[in-house]
Amino acid sequence: MENKSLVTIAKYSREKILYLIDMAREFEKHPNRRLLEGRVVATLFFEPSTRTRLSFETAANRLGARVIGFADPKVTSNTKGETLKDTIMMVSNYADIIVMRHFLEGAAQYASEVSPVPIVNAGDGANQHPSQTMLDLYTISQTQGRLDDLSIYLVGDLKYGRTVHSMLTAMRHFNPTFHFIAPDELAMPEYYKMYCRENGIRFFEHKDFDAHTISGADILYMTRVQRERFTDLMEYERVKDAYLLKKDMLSEARPNMKILHPLPRVNEIEYSIDDTPYAYYFQQARNGLYARQALICDSLGITLEDVKNDKTIIE
Ligand code: CP
Repeated sequence: MENKSLVTIAKYSREKILYLIDMAREFEKHPNRRLLEGRVVATLFFEPSTRTRLSFETAANRLGARVIGFADPKVTSNTKGETLKDTIMMVSNYADIIVMRHFLEGAAQYASEVSPVPIVNAGDGANQHPSQTMLDLYTISQTQGRLDDLSIYLVGDLKYGRTVHSMLTAMRHFNPTFHFIAPDELAMPEYYKMYCRENGIRFFEHKDFDAHTISGADILYMTRVQRERFTDLMEYERVKDAYLLKKDMLSEARPNMKILHPLPRVNEIEYSIDDTPYAYYFQQARNGLYARQALICDSLGITLEDVKNDKTIIE
């Protein structure tokens, strides 16, 4: 039987990604339906979140499911020593699908191996964030009209940023050219550069961050320096303000260029950029709702045809 868990975006083919984008587009047209009536979605967040948890919960609520879960493991029996396996086994007694964020890399894979219900990885340590990538791909497709042959500039914390790691993995199907812009301390890990070489993904590395360096971008993907992943906070202090995108750096930008950011933003994008036509990060976060509706439905065996033929739309 097909494992319906989503641990890494690497499991998705080009066709599957385009299929999920089509499904998300249906949900953008009509987000309110009763497709998941009678289902229960659990959201287990062992790490803080605003967008991911709330958009998954909104996705489930707008499709008529009920939502259980926690946003803080301190209020659970985790504090009494309950193992992740036991927590997953327990919650799978109550819910049809489990959305989980965990601070340990590999936690989602492990959960998917012990769980009788699908697990959706909502971020595991610095490893992967596949639902973020689905909404990023949806947003890129929406703004550029395609996913193929784009120049994507990844800026900031490329070492710990799980969203950029997932993005590389997914984009291998679409002939991208990547530009990695980061200081030495936050450079793209060798493992992912090797992944690019093995999969024929072109990439260039830069340390300069200025108008000229970013002038060839279709997508400028800014990231936050991930304070929570540093073992040495002095090092964090040294690099935390490494790259701030200022309005005057957009002087040579392509007309189609869009700035994305998985958010939260700390000190990566000047607020004055929010009102420019290049800023697209709030729409990107909104797209999380539609992409996650598609992912929940797909994991529960609901097809694009089911969504297109759905008669439970609430206008
Ligand atoms: N983009 C993202 O994962 O945001 P949250 O940490 O707020 O969920």
